[in-house]
Amino acid sequence: MRKQKKPVIWENVSIHGLADKGRGVGRNSEGMVVFVEQTAPGDVVDVLVTKKKDFAEGRPIHFHAYSEDRTSPFCTHFNICGGCKLQHMTYDAQLKYKDQMVRDALQRIGKIEVGSYLPIIGAEEQKYYRNKLEFTFANKQWITQEMMDRGDSNLRDVLGFHRPGAFDKMVHIDECFLMPEPMNALRNYMHALAVEQKLEFYDVRKHEGYLRNVMMRISTLGQIMVVMVFKYEDKAKRETYLDGILQKFPEITSLQYCINEGVNDSLWGKTISCYAGKSYIEEALGHVTYRIAPHSFFQTSTRQAVRLFDTVAEFAELSGKENVYDLYTGVGSIGLYLAKDCLQVVGIEEIPEAIVDAQQNAERNNISNTTFYAGDVKNILTDQFAEQHGKPDVLITDPPRAGMHEKVAEMLLKLESPKIVYVSCNPATQARDLNWLSEKYEVVKSRAVDMFPFTHHIENVVLLTLKKS
Ligand SMILES: C[S@@+](CC[C@H](N)C(=O)[O-])C[C@H]1O[C@@H](n2cnc3c(N)ncnc32)[C@H](O)[C@@H]1O
Repeated sequence: MRKQKKPVIWENVSIHGLADKGRGVGRNSEGMVVFVEQTAPGDVVDVLVTKKKDFAEGRPIHFHAYSEDRTSPFCTHFNICGGCKLQHMTYDAQLKYKDQMVRDALQRIGKIEVGSYLPIIGAEEQKYYRNKLEFTFANKQWITQEMMDRGDSNLRDVLGFHRPGAFDKMVHIDECFLMPEPMNALRNYMHALAVEQKLEFYDVRKHEGYLRNVMMRISTLGQIMVVMVFKYEDKAKRETYLDGILQKFPEITSLQYCINEGVNDSLWGKTISCYAGKSYIEEALGHVTYRIAPHSFFQTSTRQAVRLFDTVAEFAELSGKENVYDLYTGVGSIGLYLAKDCLQVVGIEEIPEAIVDAQQNAERNNISNTTFYAGDVKNILTDQFAEQHGKPDVLITDPPRAGMHEKVAEMLLKLESPKIVYVSCNPATQARDLNWLSEKYEVVKSRAVDMFPFTHHIENVVLLTLKKS
């Protein structure tokens, strides 16, 4: 029999900060950094070390002292579903540490001087702030130790979230504080109806079953979109299920479906068909209304998106005469928001459906000074493109979490836009990109905006200006 390894326990570790993924960070007695889940700065804990290389990871097994920033989590799924990981901390403390995380990333990874850090903008709505969520149907529920202790060991046919990092561990959700009603009622009804109609929930290991996922959106204009994903086509079954949903929730304004026969859940490139209502949902941000197709990215926290875009506008300081580039434009969100204050906007986005939305969004808002292109920024943004549209006076860039491709950063250095406003949902990649740009740019100011209370996510806006040669 193989000998079991002796557990490594580090005692009396003081948690002094918050790190990536919402974990507390401390050091052992020899100074080695350890990331400890479910802790808050100020806790003193004994840590069971689960991984150790250049740094360690672990979980707390005993608390010697509790942080003053702690509070009681409000959700029964806390620590199980993997979302809203900071519910054990007060909102003021979350803001303080998120702001610190941004500063640390810009200094440590970016190695750049920032002219000034403006105070973080917190969210007025700390619950029910999301306009989009995706849930998965699964034929088995992941069983926690607590459930086993209660005797709940055979839970089948669930609808909820994947436990992070585990594609086959499903957590059933009956109440989620992220989206306003009727979205909990709707999801719970979809679950109950599927059970009643004896539809097969998906088996992620065997890739069998009928019901796979559902994506839901709700807008502040009162519209609701539901995109139901089935493994295979069975017209009679599909229509009976979708009709049942629509009958109970006639307020759904867009009911769509997709057949995904593939092994992964990505809907990239898959056809989404409209079953009832419109093929898009509408949302308003300040003075602009947007239509959003199912494939298109849209800021998921509507009210904070307005504050984010106002920060971009404040940093851009447009006078009406500028040529503005909006890279990674999505459905034209930032470009259309700024269009009234500049000469023209040129937007680039890789999802073609989002560009169709961007063009229609311009039309529906009577905006005539925008042009949008579909494609990868690194291929579209060329010398020729700049010749055709004129060099930018202000360039907005809002890339995905991975940040910008190095080729894009090189092109930005070549374009020499006098101002760049860089919006990021990942301070680490933003810091890396700012370091690339530091060859010609200085960072004048930076402001974090908290779009997602109780999660570790943070958005950051930075103004860069061209260094005087
Ligand atoms: C963080 S979102 C920002 C969208 C938009 N600025 C907004 O505020 O709604 C990033 C966008 O970049 C798009 N995208 C990702 N990689 C891209 C690439 N290589 N070239 C062009 N667009 C890309 C995504 O589809 C997404 O719409």
